[in-house]
Formats: sequence, C-alpha cells, structure tokens
Amino acid sequence: MTLWAELDQSGFEQFVWCRDRESDLEAFIAIHSTARGPALGGCRLWPYARPEDAARDAMRLARSMTYKAAAAGLPYGGGKAVVIGRAGDAGNDRRFEALGRFIERLNGSYLTGVDVGTTPMEMDAVARTTGYVTDTTGSMGGTGDWTADMTAYGVLAGIKVTARLVYGTGRLQGRAVAVQGLGKVGWALCRYLRREGARLIVADLNPRLVERAVFDYQAMPVAAQRIYEAPCDIWAPCAMGGILNDNTIGRLQCRIVAGSANNQLAAPKHAESLRQRGIVYAPDYVINAGGLIATAAELEGDGPFRTRSRVRRIAGTLAAAYAEAESAGVTTAEAADRIAERMMRQ
Ligand code: NAI
Repeated sequence: MTLWAELDQSGFEQFVWCRDRESDLEAFIAIHSTARGPALGGCRLWPYARPEDAARDAMRLARSMTYKAAAAGLPYGGGKAVVIGRAGDAGNDRRFEALGRFIERLNGSYLTGVDVGTTPMEMDAVARTTGYVTDTTGSMGGTGDWTADMTAYGVLAGIKVTARLVYGTGRLQGRAVAVQGLGKVGWALCRYLRREGARLIVADLNPRLVERAVFDYQAMPVAAQRIYEAPCDIWAPCAMGGILNDNTIGRLQCRIVAGSANNQLAAPKHAESLRQRGIVYAPDYVINAGGLIATAAELEGDGPFRTRSRVRRIAGTLAAAYAEAESAGVTTAEAADRIAERMMRQ
C-alpha cells in the first residue's frame, strides 16, 4: 500500500514533512486524531535507513497514541514526530530548534515530548522556538526522567495485575523478569522490579548499560539476540517495536509479556499467536501509558502524588481488557482496541 493510501485508510488528519536545509533537519509529524483534544506524542530520533521508514514509523506511532490516550480516558488525541538522525550528532540543537518552528506552525494541534533517542535537552532546544512542548529540563521531576519513570511505574502496575491474573498473586518477590532494553524506561523498570524483589535477566545493545545492571541490580546478563528464549515468568520488552513476530513468539519461555515498547506486535495476528501459546499479552498502549498520563497531568497542573495515583489506574484498564478478552473470546489486544474505540466514540 502506498504511504498516501495508508494515511487515508488509517484515518489520519494531517501529515507534515519537515525539511530545514540550513540545519539539515529531515523530520515527519503525523497527527492521527485531534477528536478528543490536541494530539500528544513524543519525538523519536533514529537513524532510519530511508525517509519512507521514518514516515511509516511516525504514522504507526501516532495512531497508537490516539488509542493510548483514549484507553487512558485522556482528553487528547494522537500524534508523533520522528527526526532522522542520531543522538549526540553535531548540530542536533539547531535541528530541534527548526523542528520547533514546524510545530509552532501547527498552532497547538500537536504537542511534543521525549521518546526513543531524545532527552529533555532536545526538548529544551524545541522549547526555544515553540511553547507546544513538554518534558523539558524544567519539567516536573527536574531530572527530566519523569515521563520515563512514570512509564515504568505504570508498567510495574500492569505487571502486577497481570501476574495476579496468571499466578493468583501480584507479588513479584522471586519472580524472574526478562527486560529487553535498559534505556530510560527499562532502567527505571529494573529499579522498581528490584524493590519488589524480582530477579532480573537483562539485555541491551549497549554493553555498558548491561554491566551497570549486573552491578546495581544483580541482574543476569544475556546477549541481545538470546533474551527471547530466557526462561522467565514475565518478559518485558522495553526497546523497539515489532519484536513479537513469527521468529520470536515460538522462542518465548514465559507466561506473560508486559513491557513498555510501543507497537510490540509485528502484525495484529501475533496477538493470536501469543494467545495460542498460553501467553497473556498486556496490550502495549495500555500498559505503557504512564508517561502520557504524567504529561497530561503536568499540563493540567497535577502534582506528583496525584499523578502517581492516576498512573496506577492502568491496572484497572488492563483488568477490564483481560475481562473483556475472556468474555468475548478475543485476544487481549482486540479487547483493548474495543475499549479504546468505545472511548473515542464518547
Ligand atoms: P531509550 O532510547 O532510552 O532506550 C531504548 C534502549 O533499548 C536503548 O538502551 C537501546 O540500546 C536498547 N535496544 C534497542 N534495540 C535493542 C535490542 N534489539 N535488544 C536489546 N536492547 C535494545 O528509549 P526509552 O525511552 O526507554 O523507550 C523504550 C521503549 O518504550 C520504546 O519503544 C518507546 O517507544 C517506549 N515508550 C517510552 C516512553 C517514555 O516515556 N520514554 C513512553 C511510552 C513508551
């Protein structure tokens, strides 16, 4: 399918190609829906091989933001920005300032924030040219890791409610959790899991992060390509999307998949493959909504205490999706879509 046909069929409202030759910025902003409110969604920085790959990633991510905001009951729509490049490249500051100028022209229909590859430093650069930005270094928490931390906090709540369903208890003491990706969210999740007494098995492409996890969290390291077959109770993908696919699902040795990564299923049919293997899948956009909920809470002026309690409600949404999946005989992913679509119609 062509990009344009896909944009049309998936119900997109707006799609912007951002090219600033002076700073050498090439980026895309995809606005899927503003029906429930302005489109909220972070900005990804990634060395995509082709502009088409970046455009499609922006589209997939923006669409799931619409579902994420709706399932979380937030008055926001879904959007995403994707910048082609690498973290730490010279000139990134000017590129993100240029991106801010494009966002400013959208007049508030899209608000950006951090995602894979970006940090509050990039958001500070965006904030120099537009006010439609969150997750700057001045954001709640000050360290700028607040969104990722709240995402991890929500994933923890989701893991507990899923463990209760599968094992009859949400206690994680002694449970083995395999974490794929030790970035902003994966690292924070490991911290929360350790506090609960879970045993960690970890993998990341960055060996330094793995070494640190071994040292700080007594984690068991495995090679990045072996994390799929690590025997564990819970498998927590916290890196890139598309990791639940024809090649990986058969290798999983867990009863639960629950992690922060966006777009975990390579295709919708993979939710059924997981179900057939007896693995409970926590729908990604429900379990990883903590960051979005925290951003919305910050925009509405809530403090950290209230924000945490709002994030914990992810457990209730997941429980509703599991109950609907059971009663309607559908996958948990399908049940989550039904819940989100009902919210969108409201
Ligand atoms: P990040 O860029 O800080 O970390 C990603 C980590 O995954 C990096 O350390 C990278 O080396 C590692 N990685 C990449 N491919 C890997 C592989 N094949 N095997 C093992 N490790 C691999 O990103 P962040 O912010 O931690 O996000 C992680 C996931 O969670 C992404 O899918 C993101 O879209 C999603 N997410 C993030 C939110 C946030 O607040 N940061 C909110 C909701 C979802």
